[in-house]
Amino acid sequence: MPVENSRLKGFYNLSVEERRNIVSLATNLQAEHVTALKSYGELSEDAADHMIENVIGTMSLPVGIATNFKIDGKDYLIPFCVEESSVVAAASNMAKRCLVHGGFVTSNDDPIMIAQLQVLDIENCEKAAKIIEEQEQSLIEFCNNIPSKMISLGGGCRSITTRIVQTPLQTMLVLHLLVDCRDAMGANAVNTMAERLAPSIETLTGGRVHLKILSNLAAHRLARAKAIFTPAELSDNGDVVQGKAVIQGILEAHQFAVYDPFRATTHNKGIMNAISSVALACGQDWRAIEAGCHAWASFAHGRYSSMSSWTTDDEGNLVGEVEVPLAVGIVGGASKVHPGARANLAILGVDSAQELAGIMACAGLSQNLGALRALATSGIQAGHMKLHSKNMAVSAGAVGDEIEVLALKLQHYDGPRTQTLVEEWLRELRS
Ligand code: MEV
Repeated sequence: MPVENSRLKGFYNLSVEERRNIVSLATNLQAEHVTALKSYGELSEDAADHMIENVIGTMSLPVGIATNFKIDGKDYLIPFCVEESSVVAAASNMAKRCLVHGGFVTSNDDPIMIAQLQVLDIENCEKAAKIIEEQEQSLIEFCNNIPSKMISLGGGCRSITTRIVQTPLQTMLVLHLLVDCRDAMGANAVNTMAERLAPSIETLTGGRVHLKILSNLAAHRLARAKAIFTPAELSDNGDVVQGKAVIQGILEAHQFAVYDPFRATTHNKGIMNAISSVALACGQDWRAIEAGCHAWASFAHGRYSSMSSWTTDDEGNLVGEVEVPLAVGIVGGASKVHPGARANLAILGVDSAQELAGIMACAGLSQNLGALRALATSGIQAGHMKLHSKNMAVSAGAVGDEIEVLALKLQHYDGPRTQTLVEEWLRELRS
């Protein structure tokens, strides 16, 4: 059992230090762990304590900058917050390879979020849906008739649609409020709107409104990115013949992801390596983004498939495209209160949530290409090994110069590179 009792009465009322002491006593935490927890980075104890409950410390992750991104004619330095080696390097490397064709092009939907209202106990859902349709304009006016910054900036409820969902329990009427959230992610705004509208919907339909909550399948808030890569740019040294073989390998790898959900999951994880890292760096709700992107990958194709598409144009260039729902904001939430997120948004210099969404889609596309190119040529471990070998050396307990010695030995080792092997080498080195 990790602790004797997880019931910590009044824990939330204590100071951060008191909480940390209690947890470290209860879990026999070593001094180095306590020091790690209380060594605040860019997020002060006070700021952290105001963000979530029962705070005992913070935890840092590296922020790296992906370079070489030209998007819609503008150059960006993109902050990634991620623990995995090679992610930033791969995205930067691939971004460079589409510069010949002007970099990435994006096309992003208006920032429309969906709020759902689940209406139950309706005798005739078709009839109720018709009533909502007839009253749509007055319901929209009701939704938008509140003092709200988002509405004053041109946002607000745009339309209300209905769906009828059959379940074994009963047939449900589901309302979708389509809300333009402008530069906010919009979760709070749309949830408030749905809750405020619920009594009117009950009156109109005679039903009972049960859940009132946003949908993370932000299907009206899609971000799209496209880029073109010549065979020469995709080759190792400008060799067009080799570049064409690389392209063929990438097309084959892509088809694998399109038709096999086991491969699609890993393929898409590679895309999310970038999207989630930028989301995290910029204080976005990356769980919502992950959920939405994976759901869209199923919803859009009628089965779970690739988030990206890779084809060739008439000149034999590789054309990459990605389309994902990206509910992001640059006002409100952690993007506003977390100093690190604020700094990373400042590095990006974005003017709108849509611009941020477009950048994230480009980062995802570039990341995907990095993985596909590596997998279709030398394999993933070769590129991974440089930094990963250092991680393995540190995990084995290496310190100072030992890290470099072991990492180099590992990089040049031909056999299976296991952690046990590195531990053995460290023992040999020390004896
Ligand atoms: C590893 O984090 C991501 C990859 O597995 C993605 C892929 O296989 O396409 C390399």
